[in-house]
Amino acid sequence: VTAQQPLRGDVAVLVPAAGIGSRLGPGTPKALREIAGAPLLVHAVRRLCRAEGVACVVIAAPAGRAEEVRALVEPEAPSGVTLLVVDGGPTRGESVYAALSAAPAKYPVVLVHDAARAFAPPDLVERVAAAVRSGHDAVIPVLAVVDTVKEVDADGRVVRTLDRTALRAVQTPQGFRREVLLAAHRAAGVANGVTDDAGLVEHLGVAVFCVPGAEAALKITRPSDVALARALAQVHLDADGGRTLSS
Ligand code: C5P
Repeated sequence: VTAQQPLRGDVAVLVPAAGIGSRLGPGTPKALREIAGAPLLVHAVRRLCRAEGVACVVIAAPAGRAEEVRALVEPEAPSGVTLLVVDGGPTRGESVYAALSAAPAKYPVVLVHDAARAFAPPDLVERVAAAVRSGHDAVIPVLAVVDTVKEVDADGRVVRTLDRTALRAVQTPQGFRREVLLAAHRAAGVANGVTDDAGLVEHLGVAVFCVPGAEAALKITRPSDVALARALAQVHLDADGGRTLSS
């Protein structure tokens, strides 16, 4: 099977959705906050389920809210997509590991996708999965960095200016051969401070391959991102005749 001929049903997506989202302000856990008529997690699951190859979605829910999350997302999954909900952990890494442990072993391609990147388009999901299928152990979507980036010390003095042409901003979904992601999480242990799964794989000495990211896959983090997300939901509404906001 080549990257041009996606195999139906070989992908499980892990969705860490257990974060508080404190940078967005106090209140409901971030994945359950509503934007454009639906919780962020619902927007995320809708898009994931539209990607070819996705056969299973495993959500790590905020503590004590697994049943509520199951009720929210179940209507979004088409028949043929298995939906599982587990309790998330106190760190993103623990939430991902909980979801990974629950994902059936029959799916050789495992993607990890932040619920906070709720508007990641299905073709981005397909691009990442296709690159894993074509033989890469680990795949990340990246964007060029638009700002100049400097390293700064604790006193606020510039240490050096980094070469922007060599820098990339990293998004999700990140894709892995299942065994590679399992090995990376087991080697790192739960107490690791790594903020993304590809970082764990790098520690194993495994090569990580980059594919083009998508601006719509921004991580909704700060209050100003919410306005952007509303606009993105609208764009999708226009593109698919209104199905996005219909619930
Ligand atoms: O906090 P941050 O923005 O890095 O979170 C990225 C993703 O990880 C979010 O979708 C969030 O819900 C998830 N997360 C989690 N469990 C935690 C912390 C964050 O599933 N304990």
